[in-house]
Amino acid sequence: MRKILAPSILSADFGKLSQEMMEVAHAGADWIHLDVMDGHFVPNISFGAPVIKSVRPATSLPFDVHLMISDPDTYIPDFAEAGADYISFHAEASSNYEKTIDLIRSLGVKPGIVINPDTPITSIEAVLDRVDYVLCMSVYPGFGGQSYIPEVLEKITTLAQLREERGLPFLIEVDGGFNTKTMKSFVASGADVFVAGSAVFGHHDYKSAIKTLTSLW
Ligand code: DX5
Ligand code: ZN
Repeated sequence: MRKILAPSILSADFGKLSQEMMEVAHAGADWIHLDVMDGHFVPNISFGAPVIKSVRPATSLPFDVHLMISDPDTYIPDFAEAGADYISFHAEASSNYEKTIDLIRSLGVKPGIVINPDTPITSIEAVLDRVDYVLCMSVYPGFGGQSYIPEVLEKITTLAQLREERGLPFLIEVDGGFNTKTMKSFVASGADVFVAGSAVFGHHDYKSAIKTLTSLW
């Protein structure tokens, strides 16, 4: 399976977001990862659908919208309308996974489910055949630039085995603490989509940062 690098604009300069996105697109990004935080589900606030809508014209790359919000069903239509290609919601924030997944799909968007580092795979097993991707958090959500939690990688390996056993097509995305030092372990875990915030935007030259991250895949 092809590996996908998804720079997270949480670590970009918000004063020139469109330009930042054009630059990472030019530098070789595959997707753009957009971290939506509500100050309730996570202890931080980032941006919402109007900001996503305003930066949508900056690139034709897929928008991967990671909702770290309570009550996702209420807001999902706004994010679909803003131009999301992929929308993931946290299992911990949804009372009915099937309903949330079906809502996302009904809006013409690819659904993903996210689990926090301490949420087991068993809690989402029943919906693995309904999602386009599973996002495994390798840090506790809320902030960029944290160190990854190594135990999460074993969980990803288990998930990849389960996928193989069941012959399911979902992608496995990993988010938090991905950089040149952790890359080998992340790749070995069996993940397909790698979110990188500070490992891209923390560098002056995005092209060389992305090249360094992806050349050893
Ligand atoms: C954390 C966010 C991540 C974050 C990753 O809550 O979901 O997407 O931006 O940042 P790094 O790559 O710096 O750990
Ligand atoms: Zn994220």
